[in-house]
Amino acid sequence: MKPQFTRLYRIWHWMMAFSVIGLLGTVALRKTFLSWRTNSELIQVKLSEVGTEVTAETAKMIAKAIRAPMWEWHYIFALFLAISIAIRLFMVARDRSQFPLFQVINAPKEEKLKKLVHMLICVSLMVMTISGGVLYYHELLGFTKDGVHWVKELHENVMYGVLLLVGLHLGGVIMHELTTKEGIVSKMIHGDD
Ligand code: HEM
Ligand code: HEM
Repeated sequence: MKPQFTRLYRIWHWMMAFSVIGLLGTVALRKTFLSWRTNSELIQVKLSEVGTEVTAETAKMIAKAIRAPMWEWHYIFALFLAISIAIRLFMVARDRSQFPLFQVINAPKEEKLKKLVHMLICVSLMVMTISGGVLYYHELLGFTKDGVHWVKELHENVMYGVLLLVGLHLGGVIMHELTTKEGIVSKMIHGDD
């Protein structure tokens, strides 16, 4: 049988997986430890304790400056996600892999749900990458910040879909690993060729 877990397939999978985990990590930090709302309040309170008053605007500017180097990683992981999508498109173009929609159509009945989840992961990551790219290059594309506000809302809301699908995927992989002797995770790491 033709090997499924070829080197390129595994590079594609792990590059995508690690970049998505990294992207979610940067969002988690932005919303918690490095939230400018929480930290600007902290900056104001702590400075006033030592007798220095700063305006809310200044405190916000400092909190955002502290967050900035971490958020750069959102764009670094984004680049790797885009590269992984390019690898997958290359594989489809070279007939080394099927387009996710055809994988769903061609799958036997018992694998349809799994393939559907895989397809939805690919579609949602495509939406995240295109919307993220539009946000990043909005000035170059001739849009104002307000003009791309709806894109930002889309980008944020689709993230919940990504979270759900990744959760389903990990649950499915663990179940597959525990209930069959196929060693699917090992194949995704070491290959089957
Ligand atoms: C955010 C992280 C992840 C994403 C976005 C992701 C995405 C995907 C996608 C889209 C596929 C389908 C591949 C295809 O079209 O043929 C897949 C397959 C697979 N993934 Fe992941 N994955 C992630 C993390 C993981 C992790 C952490 C593991 C292992 C512990 C894993 C193990 C697998 C395995 C074993 C398959 C093959 C499933 C099969 O063909 O039955 N994935 N993954
Ligand atoms: C799984 C993939 C991704 C997830 C889950 C994700 C999540 C998010 C979230 C939740 C925000 C809003 C943060 C906030 O305002 O509190 C955001 C902002 C943003 N993301 Fe992503 N993102 C992903 C991929 C990408 C990609 C591929 C790009 C491409 C460059 C990108 C570029 C941006 C940009 C430019 C912003 C706006 C930052 C700002 O207004 O300061 N994202 N992302």
